[in-house]
Amino acid sequence: MKLSIALIASALSSASAFTTVNNGPRFITELNMRQPIMAGNWKMNPATEADALNLANGFCALLNEMQGACAIDSDNPDCTEVVLFPPFPFISKVKDIVQKNGIDVGAQGVYYEDKGAFTCSVAASMVKSVGCEYVLCGHSERRALFSDSDVNINSKVKKVLEFGMKPILCVGETQDEYDLGITQEVCAMQVSKDLAGVSKKDMKDVVIAYEPVWAIGTGLVCDADAANEVHKFIRTVLAKMYDDEVAQSTRIQYGGSVTPESVDGLMAMSDIDGCLVGGASLFADKFARIVNFD
Ligand code: PGA
Repeated sequence: MKLSIALIASALSSASAFTTVNNGPRFITELNMRQPIMAGNWKMNPATEADALNLANGFCALLNEMQGACAIDSDNPDCTEVVLFPPFPFISKVKDIVQKNGIDVGAQGVYYEDKGAFTCSVAASMVKSVGCEYVLCGHSERRALFSDSDVNINSKVKKVLEFGMKPILCVGETQDEYDLGITQEVCAMQVSKDLAGVSKKDMKDVVIAYEPVWAIGTGLVCDADAANEVHKFIRTVLAKMYDDEVAQSTRIQYGGSVTPESVDGLMAMSDIDGCLVGGASLFADKFARIVNFD
């Protein structure tokens, strides 16, 4: 923990002199407007391919009905970028359905080796070849249930970037760590270890998701102001590791029990640039409302 405390102290003391402009609902810096990014992590759901395609079709149908002037477009910075993370077997067919709506697909993970005798693993080249744009790295379920270490997560982040895809790096404290009051230390530690060796140039393709583990799948959504404070803190860590430009331009999502009821409050925060949504993304109507946040 010594390393992270030193990093935090140092990050906090080098307060950013960056000028920001509050232009409408989003937070705009001199150098970059952070495009909102909404992601649906389906985890190990739904049970069958037919169910997955129904969900994708239902979601797209609702978006077409809502037709908010410019709700979704990954290439237009004024619009919201939307990414779906189906289970591996469903990625290709889900992509065929959603891409006409301007929605990207991603993989819930990859292994860091390129190929070989690694039964049950999936390589970056494989998910790239079926059209994945993003890959989740360091999700708390992978850390807790599959022993994904920071060293391995760092290798995966770099592998994803090497293959021209974009990692969404998930960080966040457990309930015990929250109770101990060490949220900042945990986030600083994870961000610094998991991004070790990632160049400033590559940081333009990195998204961070702050996901307090105690809020994931529990219905306990983190208070929007409290989440925003952690996002701001993560920017101070990035400023120390890189510079103010990276700190202000990196998109940071919030994740943990996001719902249609909580999304507007979260997205009104200056430093929350999107949401990583689990449970609610399995309901077409809920996720459609979330991506069309007010
Ligand atoms: P949740 O999951 O929305 O069901 O809490 C979020 C996540 O695990 O990314």
